[in-house]
Amino acid sequence: MQKKIGILTSGGDCPGLNAVIRAVVNHATLNYNWQVLGIPYATKGLLSAKAIPLKIHSLNLRGIDPLLNMGGTILGSINKGDTLNQIEQILAGYRTLALDALIGIGGDGSLAILNQLRIAGNWQFIGIPKTIDNDVAITEHVVGFDTAVNTIVEALNRLTFTAASHDRVMIVEVMGRSAGHLALHAGIAGGADVILIPEIPYTIKGICAHLQELRHNCDRKFAIIVVAEGAQIADDSAHTSCSRPSCGMGQYIADELRSCSHDQLDIRTSVLGHIQRGGIPSALDRLIATAFGKTAVDLLANGETGKMVAWQSGRVEAVSLTEVLAHSPLRVASHHYLVETARALGIYMGL
Ligand code: F6P
Repeated sequence: MQKKIGILTSGGDCPGLNAVIRAVVNHATLNYNWQVLGIPYATKGLLSAKAIPLKIHSLNLRGIDPLLNMGGTILGSINKGDTLNQIEQILAGYRTLALDALIGIGGDGSLAILNQLRIAGNWQFIGIPKTIDNDVAITEHVVGFDTAVNTIVEALNRLTFTAASHDRVMIVEVMGRSAGHLALHAGIAGGADVILIPEIPYTIKGICAHLQELRHNCDRKFAIIVVAEGAQIADDSAHTSCSRPSCGMGQYIADELRSCSHDQLDIRTSVLGHIQRGGIPSALDRLIATAFGKTAVDLLANGETGKMVAWQSGRVEAVSLTEVLAHSPLRVASHHYLVETARALGIYMGL
């Protein structure tokens, strides 16, 4: 039976979303002869029953399909759940579009909203996990994380040389919300001396002592500190002028370290911000995106619903969306093998 399926991207954008769209359109068109509609701006598009027909190779430029390596999302996205108080209108929009099924690409917040709508509207729905935060449970990979890690590592490579030239402490604040996967992976791969993540509280005194040790006993006069935006301080008795929420975690630590070292440390702070979300997807993200998109279409063809595609032991499997959501957002366990690896290499990670 010829199906008419919708596809949408929801939540914060990340590299690899367009590669998922490309895989879904190509596989659904070439192998099933289905019609694919792109829903603009996630649930907002459903609300107003808007859709863009997506055709195989529709974006060809001299035979090149730019979707494979284009950052962002051609469908647009929203990262607020404020359409949720209009559930009935969203369900009505879905009916107006006469969709047989929907594929939603999102992080844990978006997938939770879409799952709620799926149940309310009895939709045939498959989720595809994406997020630079890497905090979706029950999958070993999500779309977007690898590129973000590489972007941070590239920044750390650059900052290392300027830090070394001036014997400076470079503090690099990275994203990740309440999870430290991004800081942990990029910090290890980028050669950081200190990695601070939300799951493991740190002390200013501990960081200060570590920097002194590096300077005086290890002949490393500069230092790289990678701090997650949601890092947690264990003991904030050494407050300076800047209160944490208003100035950002990187700036807060810079002020505290200046005070703790009696202005002996020359410190600079970089907040990488949305640079981490942009850019061309890495080879790994393109691969994950393509395999996820292909499998999501096959699951719809098999009549599956309420599932999320997940990377498990080198292949893509279908897992229960409800189970994924029960365990998300996934945080870094304190005994995570990468935490142990970092500690074994002498990286300060807090208490
Ligand atoms: O969830 C992805 C993410 O980039 C987080 O790491 C970050 O805290 C947040 O989104 C930023 O959201 P916004 O784009 O709304 O500033």
